[in-house]
Amino acid sequence: MTTLDTLERETLAAIAAAGDDAALEAVRIAALGKKGAISELLKSLGGMSPEERKTQGPLINGLKERVTAALAEKKAAFEALALDRQLQSERVDVTLPLPAESEGRVHPVSQALDEIIAIFCDMGFAVAEGPDIETDDHNFTKLNIPADHPARQMHDTFYMARQADGSQPVLRTHTSPVQVRTMLSQQPPIRIIVPGRVYRCDSDQTHTPMFHQVEGLVIDETTHMGNLKWVLEEFCRAFFEVDAVRMRFRPSYFPFTEPSAEVDIQCDRRGDEIRFGEGKDWLEILGCGMVHPNVLTMCGIDPSRYQGFAFGMGIDRVAMLKYGIPDLRAFFQSDLRWLKHYGFSALDVPTLAGGLSK
Ligand code: PHE
Repeated sequence: MTTLDTLERETLAAIAAAGDDAALEAVRIAALGKKGAISELLKSLGGMSPEERKTQGPLINGLKERVTAALAEKKAAFEALALDRQLQSERVDVTLPLPAESEGRVHPVSQALDEIIAIFCDMGFAVAEGPDIETDDHNFTKLNIPADHPARQMHDTFYMARQADGSQPVLRTHTSPVQVRTMLSQQPPIRIIVPGRVYRCDSDQTHTPMFHQVEGLVIDETTHMGNLKWVLEEFCRAFFEVDAVRMRFRPSYFPFTEPSAEVDIQCDRRGDEIRFGEGKDWLEILGCGMVHPNVLTMCGIDPSRYQGFAFGMGIDRVAMLKYGIPDLRAFFQSDLRWLKHYGFSALDVPTLAGGLSK
């Protein structure tokens, strides 16, 4: 009896005194290991008379249970302590200022995109998106470009492998298929912009095989070409952060708009710099026009009741102009020195109220 009491007191005291996992493990082995004191007691039950076993059995088992529980409790306490220490050592103070030489930079395309979205959302446009891999139907046919239409040659299309059903998906050559997707899924009034990647088999100083466009689409009962011009002028003023930008609307042709126009911005391209608002050069930044009645009809919208405009603008192009970046190809070379030079701080989120790129 007293030996059991003593053993329990001593073992519990040793558990309490154990300073780390190793010490605790030593106590466990001494008590409950193969040759531990309590294990030996349990073994001794076998040699006892039935009466003796009846009284000793519960006492020894009770002792084993209490010691096991005390060990588990202490182990859990050690684990909690270790976690606490780890949390303390890995703590991040989010209120600290950024190091002066912080590494991360926002790419000029992402920056331009954030600025463009801020401006159009302020005018009441919503943002819509669509897939990069498109059906021929969305990318061409429903935009009034049937299979044999010469305009298909205007787009240097990347075709995907032909599918089992005979269809041949394409990497979308413009963001205009999202016009189709939007009109097929909602009724006017529609007022959306569609930022995204587009693909054409083309590469030189102002063309890359993948580039970015933002599409605009407005459909209601009264919208006309004058509204289109105003929206684009307002956009340019806000985006380039000047009172007026020299813009040129040139008559043009797109199968999905009538009439159609292309817009150039005045710039200076001397040497290896590019500046907007001065000089004798013009850089084409977008195509636009009034949505063709055929497109409305194919998308389930009644052209005798509804009309509207659309535009498709090159995001990379306007970013080049605004930030004075002369070569488009550098945008996608992931050169860290270039990114450091032309990139933006991650904490300067562009807003109309707080300033776009300042
Ligand atoms: N999708 C045309 C292009 O990529 C641009 C455009 C969009 C023209 C909408 C008119 C209307 O060249």
